[in-house]
Amino acid sequence: MLSQDARRSVEDTIKKYSQKRAAILSTLHIAQKEIGWISKDTIEEIAGILDITPIEVKEVVSFYTMFNLRDVGKYHIQVCTNLSCSLLGSRHIVNYLEKRLGLGVGKTTEDKKFTLSEVECLGSCGTAPMMQINEDYYENLTEEEIDKILMSLA
Ligand code: FES
Repeated sequence: MLSQDARRSVEDTIKKYSQKRAAILSTLHIAQKEIGWISKDTIEEIAGILDITPIEVKEVVSFYTMFNLRDVGKYHIQVCTNLSCSLLGSRHIVNYLEKRLGLGVGKTTEDKKFTLSEVECLGSCGTAPMMQINEDYYENLTEEEIDKILMSLA
């Protein structure tokens, strides 16, 4: 359930549009920022706020990989495995992260610190291989870079 602050933020956002439903992406961002992921209950709450059906909200949530349909760890590591990143070693990056974190793709560490995911192109093909952790991009990845990044998140 969204907090009062988040609700106010959503109401302010809705005022910027001529139709409530146009605020769906902004509303989902507000919800994910607060809760960390988009649950079935959140989908229903947002549908109620925007006067649309839950399935309309679910369609948007499931289309964009930036929205989490499951609870994720404090650090959500999303490795791009699309063409450019794949050609420049994203499979090796994923394997290295799996080894370092001791978990497979789609899994979260027991301490809920890290979740590892593979995603489609994040629009940073010129700096492949790359990954996103929460809101930040990490590019031109190597094993050494990954070690440094994980140390900085300790
Ligand atoms: S292919 Fe990886 S960012 Fe585009």
